[in-house]
Amino acid sequence: MAKIAVLIGSQRINGNTRKLANSFIEGAKEHNTIDVIIASDYDIPPCTGCNSCFKTDGNRCIHRDEMDSLVQRISSADIIVIATPIYFFTVSTHLKKIIDRLHFPGRREFNTKGLVLLAVAHNDTDDTFDSIRAMYDSSLRFFKLKDLGSVCVPGVRDPGDINGRKELEEARELGKSISDSSF
Ligand SMILES: Cc1cc2nc3c(=O)[nH]c(=O)nc-3n(C[C@H](O)[C@H](O)[C@H](O)COP(=O)(O)O)c2cc1C
Repeated sequence: MAKIAVLIGSQRINGNTRKLANSFIEGAKEHNTIDVIIASDYDIPPCTGCNSCFKTDGNRCIHRDEMDSLVQRISSADIIVIATPIYFFTVSTHLKKIIDRLHFPGRREFNTKGLVLLAVAHNDTDDTFDSIRAMYDSSLRFFKLKDLGSVCVPGVRDPGDINGRKELEEARELGKSISDSSF
C-alpha cells in the first residue's frame, strides 16, 4: 500500500475540487492509504522569508503552529496529490501558504516519490492551466519526482458544475491506477 496525502485547496464543501478529489480517492482507496488534508482547516501564517529555518541551529521555523503535524503527515506520504481550484492562474491561497511553508531544509528528508495534479477552473481557454502546469512540471523536475498523472477540469465555476463531467471518471481511473508499484 502506498501512502497518499491529498492536499485540498478549496474551502467549499460541495465545490468542484472536493468532488474531483473524492472521485480520485474512491478509485485509490482500495490499494492505498489516503490522508486528506483540507488546507482551509488550518490557520497557517505565510512564510515570512526570514530563512531562520535554513540559518539557525535546529532549523526551527519562527512560527509555532499546526505546520509541525502537517509536515509529519505530508513528509511521510509516498505520493502527494495537489487538488485545487485555479485562483489567479495558480493554486489557491489556502494551499500556497502550506506549500510555501514546506520550503525548509527538512524537505530533503521527505518520503515523496510522485505527484498528482487535480485542478478545476472557470475559464475554458487553451491557456487556463498553463501556469499551474508550469509550476507542477518545475516541481517534478526540481525534486526529481514521478508524474503519476493529472486531471484538469475547465469551465466549472459554481458548486455542482462538475456533476456529470467525464473528468470525474478520469480521476477515479487515475486513482485506481495508483499503487505502491507506481514509483
Ligand atoms: C479568488 C478566485 C480567483 C479565481 N481565479 C481564477 C482564474 O484565474 N482562472 C479561472 O479559470 N478561474 C478562476 N476562479 C474560478 C474558480 O477556479 C472556479 O470557480 C472553481 O470551480 C472553484 O472551485 P471550487 O468549487 O472547488 O471552490 C477564481 C475563483 C476565485 C474565488
